[in-house]
Amino acid sequence: MYSEKVMDHFQNPRNVGEIENASGVGTVGNAKCGDIMRMYLDIDENGVIRDCKFKTFGCGAAVATSSMATELVKGKTVQEALQVTNKAVMDALDGLPPVKVHCSLLAEEAIHAALWDYAKKHGIKIEGLQKPKSDIHEGEEEDEEEY
Ligand code: FES
Repeated sequence: MYSEKVMDHFQNPRNVGEIENASGVGTVGNAKCGDIMRMYLDIDENGVIRDCKFKTFGCGAAVATSSMATELVKGKTVQEALQVTNKAVMDALDGLPPVKVHCSLLAEEAIHAALWDYAKKHGIKIEGLQKPKSDIHEGEEEDEEEY
């Protein structure tokens, strides 16, 4: 039920670890399943993401999506990194089973949280970046009622 790419990124996750003196760090959790992800970004003076590392304490789908997300944001500008949505990450992984889609939100939110931290430290505003949630489960019930 998992694509080969998901299995590959789960078994051999890329860019695991920490970046010392990172330009931005973001931590996001999901209180419902208890999973946590931390994303580190190293951003150069032109606003290009030079390096990206992550640590995930979570399920296999969360590990695979964070791994793919780090691959996708590397080399992008902070503005371009906003396009790395959970959907983009899932597409790059050839999809996730429907019950695991929420896991991919951790990666998107952790990138946003790290970008938010970077912007705050540098006193800049990243167009289109909203203040990230620290718990992606927040407000989920309200959303569900709309369906
Ligand atoms: Fe929690 Fe996947 S079950 S992130």
